[in-house]
Amino acid sequence: MPKTIPETMNTTVTETMKEMNETVLPQTAASPSLDSLEGLAAYRAPERMNIVITGHVDHGKSTLVGRLLADTHSLPEGKLQAVRDSCKKNGRVFEYAFLLDALDDEQKQGITIDSARIFFKSETREYIIIDAPGHIEFLRNMLSGASRAVAAVLVIDAVEGVAENSRRHGLLLSLLGVSQVLVAVNKLDALNYDEQAFRKIKNGYARYLETLNVRPLAFIPISAREGKNITRRASETPWYEGKTILEALDSFHNLPSNEESFFAMPVQDVYRFSGENDERRIYAGTIVSGRIKTGDAVRFLPSNKEARIKTIETWNTPPKTGAQTNQASGFTLEEDIYIKRGEVMVKADEDPPVSAAPRIRANLIWLGSRPLVFGKSYLLKLGSAKAQARLEKIENFLGDPENRNPAELRRHDCGSVILSLSHPLGAARFYDNASLGRFVIVDGYDAAGGGIVLDCLADKQNPAKTDSGFEEELFALLRKYFPHQFTNA
Ligand code: GTP
Ligand code: MG
Repeated sequence: MPKTIPETMNTTVTETMKEMNETVLPQTAASPSLDSLEGLAAYRAPERMNIVITGHVDHGKSTLVGRLLADTHSLPEGKLQAVRDSCKKNGRVFEYAFLLDALDDEQKQGITIDSARIFFKSETREYIIIDAPGHIEFLRNMLSGASRAVAAVLVIDAVEGVAENSRRHGLLLSLLGVSQVLVAVNKLDALNYDEQAFRKIKNGYARYLETLNVRPLAFIPISAREGKNITRRASETPWYEGKTILEALDSFHNLPSNEESFFAMPVQDVYRFSGENDERRIYAGTIVSGRIKTGDAVRFLPSNKEARIKTIETWNTPPKTGAQTNQASGFTLEEDIYIKRGEVMVKADEDPPVSAAPRIRANLIWLGSRPLVFGKSYLLKLGSAKAQARLEKIENFLGDPENRNPAELRRHDCGSVILSLSHPLGAARFYDNASLGRFVIVDGYDAAGGGIVLDCLADKQNPAKTDSGFEEELFALLRKYFPHQFTNA
């Protein structure tokens, strides 16, 4: 049942909507001074890119980040010197990694920057580093959607070589669809910048990544500690003619903005006015892609109910006739229809790549202490929707190479699987829309796994009923017109 609220929108709704609308914008060093209106007009927010730096323990991730912060002059004034001085005073050898701790202290006191993120800037854009010390945090970050990395730097210690986490992180990037990867082969100073040592790691690791369909855009020989090939070309590696780390990052592309894409909004809640003669319902949620205006015809998935947008509700702002991506919005409809939380509102005339999916093919990473097994029911959360999910098939197993035909996914196993759902959910391929294509699986009370949707599949029993998957549709047609071919199917 919809929630009942007084005639004028009550504070709960207003607050909820406000909350939903609040995007925490990180403070940046490049904030404009807006003394004048001209200043405002001339100011264009710099482009931002989310990147993640991963690699095995001690391979030099923090040192690389410290270097990037220092060498791009992205640190607060005087910070570098303060940390150097403090090391000297305490008889410690200065490490670039300490810069992160120093920033971390500031963060804990609520100064300069936002807690999980660090920024540096090149001439073309600002970078937000998703701080993900281990792969669990990395996964959590990626799946929570709070921060979606579009590019990754994999750090490998040239002395130690490719380690377990170098492999696991490559795997995670592949499973999570981060396709822009650069590999930093670090600590080459310790090997006298030996070209052969670099090539050996490059070739071995490239071969491994190839098996995961990850093709790094660059392998870069670096010394994070000495600042070689980070922001400036190093004379110690005359045999290397490629880009520096910063140049390679600048050559990466940001994802196209969702704003210009199809319209979609998972319904977060339905509220009802309860005044006399006022039975209006407000359908509220955050728009995850595209834009909409009053008068537009909309459809809800999976129910397939249709209606027209009557008003876009506002709070403390002038009435509006349109809403767009990332805005928390409440709508009333010309026809009051019964819609439940979790349905996805799309435009009726847009034919968006959103399906009412009773089954999904997904890349899944299992982190639960109990394995993911066949024949058991799990709670699956996708956007604001939930369903019970069962493992139908493990199509591709990316775990222990000895175990080619696993009967279950154990902790830290990854694979591409088919899940069948207790009822269809409005979903999209991760590559079409991250918010509608990413899910978490709960086992008992614990989030035990997460993944991304590769395909929305039709119902196995009743393929003609749903609208997903070209292959399924084709088979449904074949079944219809050549039934004798399918008598046993
Ligand atoms: P964790 O956060 O513990 O996983 O480590 P990390 O990957 O962040 O490594 P960190 O940057 O803390 O560096 C680990 C050690 O390697 C430190 O003692 C660094 O001084 C050293 N190190 C990092 N980069 C280089 C380098 O380019 N050359 C040499 N010789 N040592 C380096
Ligand atoms: Mg570190």
